[in-house]
Amino acid sequence: VGRGVAAKAASRPEYIANRIDDPNYVRIFDTTLRDGEQSPGATLTSKEKLDIARQLAKLGVDIIEAGFPIASPDDFEAVKAIAIEVGNDVQPDGYVPVICGLSRTKFADLERAWDAVRHAKRPRVHTFIATSQIHMEHKLRMSPDQVVESAVAAVRHLKSLGCEDIEFSPEDAGRSEPEFLYGILGEVIKAGATTLNIPDTTGWNLPHEFGGLIAAIKANTPGIENAIISTHCQNDLGLSTANSIAGAMAGARQIECTINGIGERAGNASLEEVVMAIALRGEKQMGGLRTGIRPVHIYPTSKMVSDYSGMMVQPHKAIVGANAFAHESGIHQDGMLKSRETYEIMTPESIGLQRNPEDAGIVMGKHSGRNALSTRLKQLGFDLSTNEVDDVFRRFKALADKKKGITDEDLLALVSDEVHKP
Ligand code: KIV
Repeated sequence: VGRGVAAKAASRPEYIANRIDDPNYVRIFDTTLRDGEQSPGATLTSKEKLDIARQLAKLGVDIIEAGFPIASPDDFEAVKAIAIEVGNDVQPDGYVPVICGLSRTKFADLERAWDAVRHAKRPRVHTFIATSQIHMEHKLRMSPDQVVESAVAAVRHLKSLGCEDIEFSPEDAGRSEPEFLYGILGEVIKAGATTLNIPDTTGWNLPHEFGGLIAAIKANTPGIENAIISTHCQNDLGLSTANSIAGAMAGARQIECTINGIGERAGNASLEEVVMAIALRGEKQMGGLRTGIRPVHIYPTSKMVSDYSGMMVQPHKAIVGANAFAHESGIHQDGMLKSRETYEIMTPESIGLQRNPEDAGIVMGKHSGRNALSTRLKQLGFDLSTNEVDDVFRRFKALADKKKGITDEDLLALVSDEVHKP
């Protein structure tokens, strides 16, 4: 970080941490409370939204998209309450997250969004309009010129209201003509937009295509050097994390994502996946990329969002699923008992999940091996001879073939049969 950057950082208010001056710093924009809440059945109360926003601030999220204020009076109140409380609460590292509200380009929407977020120390309005041919023709029924006009007018209107931090999204950018994107993005930058978010709204792109789109936008959009490029990847093909990472590697410095990957249809890029990929591989394999997230708060945040939203986390979900640190096969269990690095690329404790230090995540089932069984029996207090363990192991396998999983109670019954056998 050069002297100019240091001077710029020193002249900033304290609540804007100098982490953003690092050119490799990737801002994490969490949209759990907006796109995430758009998951069918995931509606949250205002109190739940406020609790989650507080937790997101603790997690170290840079920007919290708190809602879509024009959508309902309740959403307006929730965004406003988050702006007032979380948007003025200084975190231990001196940082205050940006509080953002979503808005179409209609003036009434923009005013409502600004009215909700303006109470925060660092308010942002995120405005969007679709730019793909299919959306402009069939949904908006507007010509491309009218779309550009509407986008520019929205950004100018926000500026006239006093909003300085303006994000613009060309919705369905992943299926839009790149040349049209360069043009509209250049115009909104001229009008005052500071973040350009590139949504792959339908999850259509492959990682190399999305990375290529970000690189092309960076190379061809006039004025882009004064703005932050952002990604917003939906998960319709299960590629949202890969696409977000490809975007960051191509120059995006903001990633939009949600806790547990909840969101419209198949969801959004999952915060925990994106963040842990960057935490584990960012320095060496991604040219030094980093985020400001404190991973130790990931698991409690995931649990809170799943409890409040009623959106269960699938057991095999990366990072936060119940099986993410569980080991059933004998070969894996044997490896884990010898060294945890054999089958775990991060520790559960690093994401805030406390595991019994003795059990190494070992789950007893039909694939378990003798070493795992004998270790578990010792932990349960049984000191059996080799022959006894062999016998219990044989009966354990027979039982495991008939059951989905073997509990400690099952093991106790097997040992008790062994001890009391005639
Ligand atoms: O998926 C999408 O395009 C969006 C935009 C509003 C960013 O949610």
